[in-house]
Amino acid sequence: MLNKDTLSAFQQQETPFYYYDLNLLQQTLDSCKEAADKYDFHVHYAMKANFNQRVIEKIKEVGFGADCVSGNEVKKAIEVGFAPDKIVFAGVGKSDREISLALENDIFCFNVESVQELGVINELAALAGKVAKVALRINPNVDAHTHANITTGLEENKFGINQWDLHACTDALKTLPNVKLIGIHFHIGSQITNLTVFKSLCVKVNEISSWFEERGFHLSILNVGGGLGIDYHNPDEKPVADFEHYFQIFDQFLERKAGQEVHFELGRALVAHSGTLISRILYVKNGIKKHFLVLDAGMTELMRPALYQAYHKIENISRTEGEVVKYDIVGPICESTDCFGKEVEMPASLRGDLIAIRSAGAYGEVMASRYNLREDVRSFYYQAD
Ligand code: LLP
Repeated sequence: MLNKDTLSAFQQQETPFYYYDLNLLQQTLDSCKEAADKYDFHVHYAMKANFNQRVIEKIKEVGFGADCVSGNEVKKAIEVGFAPDKIVFAGVGKSDREISLALENDIFCFNVESVQELGVINELAALAGKVAKVALRINPNVDAHTHANITTGLEENKFGINQWDLHACTDALKTLPNVKLIGIHFHIGSQITNLTVFKSLCVKVNEISSWFEERGFHLSILNVGGGLGIDYHNPDEKPVADFEHYFQIFDQFLERKAGQEVHFELGRALVAHSGTLISRILYVKNGIKKHFLVLDAGMTELMRPALYQAYHKIENISRTEGEVVKYDIVGPICESTDCFGKEVEMPASLRGDLIAIRSAGAYGEVMASRYNLREDVRSFYYQAD
């Protein structure tokens, strides 16, 4: 919540920093949990979206599992206290060291992305004297209608096993004693706002799940990934994603066979709106064609606009009144793409004003870099008593 108290607290802080509204985070988590519980769905938090310590501690407390994509994420999830039997390990390029670490910790399941990877996990599990539980990540060739750089479920993407390779997988599984197939996994993309896409996913999952059952493989887990989008344009009007509608689609269209569990891997929708990047205006450059606000935050703190031309709502929180001017809001990094927004309408602004870049809690802090030898990014929290 941005109010008078938070604003005066911000004024004392060195900028830029990430500000997390832990109350909004809690509200979002509770809403997701309540909606998922209604259908007996299981949620694993996609830690890649944000692994800030305070944020993931809260997520663990709600009882969600963790979806990890590196050995270090698995390690971190365990350190924070996620139960190993609620940790899944995904990723198209798991190294031997990472696989062994996950085996040592007896995680719940590996989401496997190729026939070759099945063989490697089998080998390493045999060395460790274990049987690894695996789900096959299958590419359902469903178009998520999202930004091309964050779509993953098409045959042209590097992710998942294509359907024509499924025979090879089932053949391999019969010869690999140290891996046990427990489920199938899908993830078609991120920031999906057209929810009918998930209906198409359900239809594909039903088809593929039957294919396995017909061949004598009982699947206890259907993991449908994440991808639920948020409203970047209206963070105050819709601070909590529509989990109810999202889960209801899966309840309605996914055919669950007896004893099958449905798992989700949500990232963005759980954390995005609770994070805001707070920055100060360093310079105001008024020109003839363009007016620029040069901030002390740049693409090194929040890369999404530079990388995906992503929209984030930008506000001058020091100044609400005054003549409205159109500014290009840019950072200090020596790259032309270091721009948070073009022609953003804002009251005439001054050096020292605080600027809030909203909905930055997902894929913000975690994607920060030290390019230009920038400082590590800082964070600041708010939680009402
Ligand atoms: N499961 C898998 C296998 C994934 O690859 C991802 C995200 C998720 C779950 C979580 O998806 P979510 O619920 O957050 O949409 N950096 C980009 C987003 C990349 C998403 C990568 N995979 C961005 O800033 O928009």
